[in-house]
Order: sequence, then structure tokens, then C-alpha cells
Amino acid sequence: MNTVKAMFASCRSTATLEEKMIFYDSWAEKYDQDSASVNYQATTLAAKTVSSHYTGDRGAAVVLDVACGTGLVAEQMKEYGFGNFVGIDGSKAMLEQAQKKGLYQDLKLCLLGEQRLPAEKGSFDVVVICGSLSVGHVPVRVIKELWSACKPGGYVCMTCRHGGDHQEYRAALEDTQKQMEEEGLWSCVNVFVEEKWSKSALDSEEGFIAGSVYLYKKDSASVNYQATTLAAKTVSSHYTGDRGAAVVLDVACGTGLVAEQMKEYGFGNFVGIDGSKAMLEQAQKKGLYQDLKLCLLGEQRLPAEKGSFDVVVICGSLSVGHVPVRVIKELWSACKPGGYVCMTCRHGGDHQEYRAALEDTQKQMEEEGLWSCVNVFVEEKWSKSALDSEEGFIAGSVYLYKKV
Ligand SMILES: C[S@@+](CC[C@H](N)C(=O)[O-])C[C@H]1O[C@@H](n2cnc3c(N)ncnc32)[C@H](O)[C@@H]1O
Repeated sequence: MNTVKAMFASCRSTATLEEKMIFYDSWAEKYDQDSASVNYQATTLAAKTVSSHYTGDRGAAVVLDVACGTGLVAEQMKEYGFGNFVGIDGSKAMLEQAQKKGLYQDLKLCLLGEQRLPAEKGSFDVVVICGSLSVGHVPVRVIKELWSACKPGGYVCMTCRHGGDHQEYRAALEDTQKQMEEEGLWSCVNVFVEEKWSKSALDSEEGFIAGSVYLYKKDSASVNYQATTLAAKTVSSHYTGDRGAAVVLDVACGTGLVAEQMKEYGFGNFVGIDGSKAMLEQAQKKGLYQDLKLCLLGEQRLPAEKGSFDVVVICGSLSVGHVPVRVIKELWSACKPGGYVCMTCRHGGDHQEYRAALEDTQKQMEEEGLWSCVNVFVEEKWSKSALDSEEGFIAGSVYLYKKV
């Protein structure tokens, strides 16, 4: 026990993430043995919790094990019938230990919080993070990346130990989880506290420490909405300037999904405009916008200086009863010469006429020499239809124009 205590003490004394990874490199070989000696329950409990709620085909399910360490989570989940694992960790030696277990089809090195999670969006049935949502390890904001990697309808399982210096971290974690629930990104399935999480390995703590398990289910209805992802990807694939310096005007920004997506592609400056105060308040919470303005588009003039934005995006609101087609002239006006205007428009029954008018206006502006078309495409699986009169998926279009 004394050597285990020494290990934990030296883990705490590391100041930077890089030092922490060096520490884990040095611990890798003895990690499983030491975890067993402190009765570490996190991996067993996480596996059991996922298993008791998972109703799909476990043999076919793909599990992303984030901060997988030596692979204890995969070992436990295999006991419950799960068979496909991808592991990610910041320590090479921990990954080498995980490799030896022969359970992972892929193992990736990544410093979470410093580097983007190397996982395709919406591609995992279950995402687990065990034993590393803690002070000095994985920052709370990374749970958004876990959510992103999860399939709609899939599960994200997280654990967090209690104990002295974790109170603040845990409060921030739970705040973020709840905020994401309010935003309709996922819903809480199960949260519980286990008092005997592990034996304390710190001299300052007596006996056992407690820990929490959190299981969330990613909502399937809203999250299949592809407009913001596609708009961000389209702008990104054509933008050749300095993204860090570019200023993006997000028109009808809503809760800020466009800025979130564009940030993933390196854009860093956003101004948002919307007609709903409550939507702007949600956007404000994301901390991505340098300015947010209330404006009833179509009734009030776009509050944006002429020729001042590198990119202007309008996503999900060029539609019947929302933003009138003529507003795209104002978007063009706010854009810098040489800048881009990206627009999206869903298809579906009542949108045919609106879409025809939109495309007519876009083309007319091209004929007038105001902009030139860079890219237009149709995505068939734009979003799941939310109307009883429409079945399955509806399609949508993305339009990218470059101001002359
Ligand atoms: C206590 S171990 C948990 C391992 C495994 N999930 C388990 O429960 O047994 C913590 C793991 O998180 C990894 N880790 C901590 N912070 C990290 C970060 N920011 N990026 C990548 N890996 C990190 C460490 O390398 C280590 O393998």
C-alpha cells in the first residue's frame, strides 16, 4: 500500500499535463495491480451501468473508451457482451499495456483538452470515460467532444471521484452536464454515488473515498440536424485566409451551433444576430461570441457594418415564415469583398416555392456581378422530419457564394 500511496502522491505533484503523461508512462506496467490493491471500482461500475441500460446488439456496438489507460474498461465491458473497442489515451505506455490485452481494434494517442478528440462525429454507440474526469487530467469541456463522437440515441458514461480537491471540478462537470440537457443534447438516464469507490491512497483521506457514475443518452430527434455541420464544413473547405483572424457573422445564430461547429475548423471570432432573446442567452453561455445582437430580420435592418465580415453564415432560418429571401442582399452587404456568404435551406413540402425564390435571387445577384457561386449541393439526410406529414429524412441545400 505504501508504494501505491507514493504513486498517487507523485501523480498529484505533477504540474502540467505533459508531466502527468510522463507519470502515467512510468506507472503503466504496475497500474492494474495497484488499482486492484485500492479496490478501484470505477471501471466495474461504469460497465455494469452501461450494460443495464443498453438494449441494442452488443456484439455489433462500437465503444469509444476515452482515457482508456491499460484497458480495464474494455475488459469489464467485454464481460457484458460488448466486443468492439477503440481506445484513446495521452500516455504511450498505457496504450501499450492496453494493446497487450488484444481487445481494441484501434488505439490512439491524444492529449485530451489540448488536442481534438480523434473520433468521427456521431460514430460510436457508447462513449465511456472512466477515472480521468478529474483535476489536472481531462478538462470538463471535453465532454462536449464525447457527446459529439456519440451516435444519436447512443450512451455517454462518465465517472468522477469525490474527495477533497474534486468538489469544484465535480460541480463544474455536473453544471455542464445539466446545461447540455437543457440544450436538448442528451438526457440523463442514471446518476448514482458509490460510497466505496476505492480505498483512499492519500494520507490526508481516511478509509474509502466515494465516486459518481453518470449515464446520459444522446437525443436522437434534434441531433440529426445536419445544417450547421455542413455549413461549417463547406465554408472551411473553401476558406484559404487566416481563420484565427477572420470574423464570422452568424445570422439567426440561435443557441450558437454554427459557431460551435466553425470553431472546430479553426475559426475564432463570431458575432451573432437573432430575433429571440432566449436563444441569444443560450448562445451567450457558450462563450464563443464577441457580440450578440437582437434583431428581427426582415423587419429591422441587419445591424452589421457594410463590408466588414470575412464570412457571413445563415443556417436553418431561410425558410417560410422565418427570414424573407430579400435579406440575403443585406448578408451580401455585410460581407467583405472576397469574403464568403454561406446559406442553407431545407427542402420539404411547403418550402418549394420559397427555395425557388431564394435560388432565383442568388442567381440574379450573380448576374449583377455581386457574387459568384462557389459550391451548391443537396444533402438528402438533412434532418429527420419532425412533421407528421413527412416520413423519414428531409433533404436540404447548402449554398456558398464569394463576394466579388
Ligand atoms: C486513472 S487512469 C484511468 C484509466 C482507465 N480509464 C481506468 O479507469 O482504469 C487515467 C488515464 O487517463 C489518461 N489521461 C489523463 N488525462 C489525460 C488527458 N488530458 N489526455 C489524455 N489522456 C489523459 C492517463 O494517461 C491515464 O491513462
